[in-house]
Amino acid sequence: MHTIFTFYIISNPDVEHHNSYAAFDINGEMKNCTVIFTTEPFRKPGDMFFDHMVTGLVPIDDLGTLYTKEDAANFAVPTTGGTGAESTINYVITDVEKKRKFVCVDPNDIPDVAVVDPDMMSSMPKGLTASTGMDALTHAIEGYTTKAAWALADCLDLEAIKLIAKNLRKAVQNDPDGREGMALAQYVTAMAYSNVGLGIAHSMAHTLGAVYDTPHGVACAMMLPIVMEYNQEYTGEKFRDIAEAFGVDTKGMSADEYRKAAIDAVRQLSVDVGIPTKLEKLKEEDLPFLCESAAADACAPGNPRAASLADFEAMFRKLM
Ligand SMILES: NC(=O)c1ccc[n+]([C@@H]2O[C@H](COP(=O)([O-])OP(=O)(O)OC[C@H]3O[C@@H](n4cnc5c(N)ncnc54)[C@H](O)[C@@H]3O)[C@@H](O)[C@H]2O)c1
Ligand SMILES: [Zn+2]
Repeated sequence: MHTIFTFYIISNPDVEHHNSYAAFDINGEMKNCTVIFTTEPFRKPGDMFFDHMVTGLVPIDDLGTLYTKEDAANFAVPTTGGTGAESTINYVITDVEKKRKFVCVDPNDIPDVAVVDPDMMSSMPKGLTASTGMDALTHAIEGYTTKAAWALADCLDLEAIKLIAKNLRKAVQNDPDGREGMALAQYVTAMAYSNVGLGIAHSMAHTLGAVYDTPHGVACAMMLPIVMEYNQEYTGEKFRDIAEAFGVDTKGMSADEYRKAAIDAVRQLSVDVGIPTKLEKLKEEDLPFLCESAAADACAPGNPRAASLADFEAMFRKLM
């Protein structure tokens, strides 16, 4: 049995970098072992990325070898506290020429073993801890309110929101309990979104990542409260649960009040951990492409409220 270890190293990976860093064999003591440096567990070099196809084969160019789940065990070791990619069926690759990020889905991408150890995350600087943690919060809130949400995923997402509300500020201070809470939160909410999907905060974040190389977690954090405002009337009582997960006593509150309380709590957390609210790189002339790209993103259909190009533009404008 071949064993594959993956370590998260590269930000916003594209095909070129994936190919150059993809894999190498460790000679000597560790036989039959491949180490992949990536931000995600597994990916396939070459054009087939962009087909969004389940191929059943995972070619790794540097080795000239084809692996499937049957002949390679994949151990995923997250070193950031956000993507939860160690438990998901998908990975995200940037097509630099098209300036698009593509969400690819492949059962071969699901690691066999996830080693989720908060100590592996303790070397993250404050900014990376904050941004990756806000990515996890975006997974939890988008997963909790996506069209496909259902009871089991809701349990995971709500628990993740509680954990993040309690632990992200502490994790940013490198407090061990905070790190532990965030390691768990990002992991459990990923198990949910891997099944139920996400929404347009991710569509817009993917677009900003592809066009401006904005770190994924920063882009998610900036979009999340804007998208929550846009979605709020399409979320039933779910924003009451979110507000309560942040410690708000919602007794006696109207829907408008508890929805505002949930959005305010998310916005406050983002500010407290140092995420900016404006994106200076965002230019007027880029808006048409940004909107079309976000509308075409794989996460858009899961959003509880449909968004037109004009809606996307109004939301992107809030970052200017
Ligand atoms: N399941 C999925 O497929 C999924 C989900 C969410 C996001 N994503 C994708 O994942 C990427 C974002 O990954 P991310 O948020 O983990 O990282 P990131 O891209 O924000 O940051 C990665 C950087 O952090 C550094 N780093 C990693 N661990 C560190 C540590 N412990 N100490 C110090 N530095 C460390 C790396 O060297 C790299 O430079 C984006 O491309 C995004 O689109 C994928
Ligand atoms: Zn994400």
